[in-house]
Amino acid sequence: MANVPFFTLNDGTKIPCLGMGCWMGGPGGGERVYEMCAEALKCGYRHFDTAAGYGNEEEVGRAIRDSGIPRSEIYVTTKLGYYPFWTASRPLNIHLPHSSDHHRVKDAFEESLNKLNVSYIDLYLMHWPQASIDGKTLGPEEHPTYIETWKEMEKLVQTGRVKTLGVSNFSIKTLEHLLPHCEIIPATNQVELHPCLPQNELKAYCEAKKILLTAYSPLGRSTFLIEDATIKTLAEKVNTSPAQILISWAVQRGTIAVPKSENRERMRANMTLVSLSAEDMAVVDALHQKPNMHKSLLVYHDKEGPGGVFGWTYEQLGWNLVLGGVVPPN
Ligand SMILES: NC(=O)c1ccc[n+]([C@@H]2O[C@H](COP(=O)([O-])OP(=O)(O)OC[C@H]3O[C@@H](n4cnc5c(N)ncnc54)[C@H](OP(=O)(O)O)[C@@H]3O)[C@@H](O)[C@H]2O)c1
Repeated sequence: MANVPFFTLNDGTKIPCLGMGCWMGGPGGGERVYEMCAEALKCGYRHFDTAAGYGNEEEVGRAIRDSGIPRSEIYVTTKLGYYPFWTASRPLNIHLPHSSDHHRVKDAFEESLNKLNVSYIDLYLMHWPQASIDGKTLGPEEHPTYIETWKEMEKLVQTGRVKTLGVSNFSIKTLEHLLPHCEIIPATNQVELHPCLPQNELKAYCEAKKILLTAYSPLGRSTFLIEDATIKTLAEKVNTSPAQILISWAVQRGTIAVPKSENRERMRANMTLVSLSAEDMAVVDALHQKPNMHKSLLVYHDKEGPGGVFGWTYEQLGWNLVLGGVVPPN
C-alpha cells in the first residue's frame, strides 16, 4: 500500500495500519461491497475489515480473488458472528441468525473461511463480548462466557488457518477479566475511536499489555467530525481534507484505522496519510475536552434505562459512559 506503514502485532505478524472497513451501514450490501473492495484494491488497499455479522464475507472474498493479487499481500480480518443489529433492518435475501456464534466458534470460523473462500484468515476477532441465544442476550456469567469463547478461539490457531486473534468492544474491565485466562494475548482490541472518543485510558492500558487498538468508525461515521470547525481549520492549514486529518491522527498515535468509503476519490484520499506536527496532534487530542464533545458517535446505545449496548449495561461492558453514549466529566 502506497505510503501506508505496517504495525507489528504482539505475535510478531505485521498489519497494514490502514484498512477498508466493510460495514455498509446495514447487513449485506451485495455488489456494492464487491465494487468497493475491487476499487479499493486498485487504489492500493491491502487490508479489509469484515465480519460474519456484516453478511458480506462472500463479496469481500470474491473481490480479493478476482483482483489477482497474491493472497499473501492482502490482510483479511473477520469476526465471530454477532447479529443484534440485524433485528432492526432485516434484508429478505440473507439468512438471519437469532443467536450469536459464541457457542459454536469452530463451525462459525469454518463458515467464515468458506464464505471468504480464502485458505486462511489473518485476524479473527471476537466481535462483541456478549453472547446471545434465540434472540436473548446472556449475562456476563452465563455460558458461553467470553472467556470460554476465547478458549475456543485459541484452538483455531492450531489449525494454521488463522494467524492472529483479537477482540473487539472490550474495555479495561473485560480485558482484566479475560487476560489471566489467555494462553494467547489478543493482538488487537477493535473499538470505536476518533477525536470525540480518544479512549486514552484504554489505549494506555492496552499498550502496557502489548495489545494494539484498532479504531473503528475513525471518521465518526457521520459528518459530525468531518464538519467540525477545529478539524476543518486544521485541514486547511495542512492543505488536506478533514478525513485525512482524522485518519492520520489515528495512525500517528499508534492505532490501526479502518475507515469505510465506497467513493473512489474519498477512498484514495483516506489512504494518503499526512504527517501532523506535535502542535497539530495536540489540537486534535484536545477536541474531546470542549463542551459536549466527549462522546460516542454511534447510534447503537440504549435510549433509556441505565444505558448500554446490545443487551449489556455500560457497567457490564465496562464502558465509562452514561445514557446516550456520553463520557461523564471526571
Ligand atoms: N468492531 C465493531 O463493532 C465495529 C463497529 C463499527 C464499525 N466497525 C468497522 O469500522 C469500519 C468503519 O467504521 P464506520 O463505517 O462505522 O464509519 P467511518 O469509517 O468512520 O465513516 C464512514 C462514513 O464516512 C464517509 N466517508 C468516508 N470517507 C470520507 C471522506 N474522505 N470524506 C467524507 N466522508 C467520508 C463514508 O461515506 P462513503 O462510503 O460514501 O465515502 C461513510 O458514510 C466499518 O466499516 C467496520 O469495518 C467495527
